[in-house]
Amino acid sequence: MNIILNIQRYNPDVDDAPHFKEYEVEVGPNQRLLDALMQVKRFQDGSLGFRKSCAHGVCGSDAMRINGKDGLACKTLIKEVAQKDGDTVTLEPLRYMPVQRDLIVNQAEFFKKYRSVKPFLINDESVAEKERIQSQDERMQFDDTTNCILCASCYSACPVLQDNSDFLGPAAIAQAYRFIADTRDRGFGERLAVLDQVDGVWPCQNHFKCTQSCPRSILITKRINQTKRLIEKHKQKKGDN
Ligand code: SF4
Ligand code: FES
Repeated sequence: MNIILNIQRYNPDVDDAPHFKEYEVEVGPNQRLLDALMQVKRFQDGSLGFRKSCAHGVCGSDAMRINGKDGLACKTLIKEVAQKDGDTVTLEPLRYMPVQRDLIVNQAEFFKKYRSVKPFLINDESVAEKERIQSQDERMQFDDTTNCILCASCYSACPVLQDNSDFLGPAAIAQAYRFIADTRDRGFGERLAVLDQVDGVWPCQNHFKCTQSCPRSILITKRINQTKRLIEKHKQKKGDN
């Protein structure tokens, strides 16, 4: 069938403002949206800018707004966004990050927030045996969060960031949880300095938009709430002493 891709275009070198341009492409219902974009890039307009690499939902580079919802072009089938000949699919860059060109955004702020939670295992204690042992149950407390591909779909989907650009955002908090819930980690205190701030974990209002947008099915909102509870528990314990 033939569908229309209505794509936001913006080249800061020549355009005063973003505008939309339509492209007609012939695609099958089981093809992926990324295939349609590649068709435009290869055969209609080589100047179209978008990121992609693995084409299999692993690298996280082709996240964008697809008909107003955030997701990966390579994980979206045409039949999920267009049902019949002539249907239009609107594509925009992710929100809350400056557009570099067309569907490409500058992710510097997103990664700065991610790095601020120290997303790595912190533990200076010596290891008794060869490795730090962890039970399956302990691992399952945070297992889903290890699947993050840093696509920033959740960040763009978050309604809180619309009014508060300083909010740490869902991906960074989920990654903070990934380590503070890890029985082998000792970095809770260090991460607390970032999480327990007015723009840290607290602005989350449980909209669940991040969870709905995540292509890796990470329980982001739940993990954010668990992080809040761990902080409260920590403060309570401190107050008791
Ligand atoms: S939590 Fe999900 S939506 Fe957010 S960056 Fe990671 S993979 Fe993407
Ligand atoms: S191209 Fe790698 S996740 Fe889509």
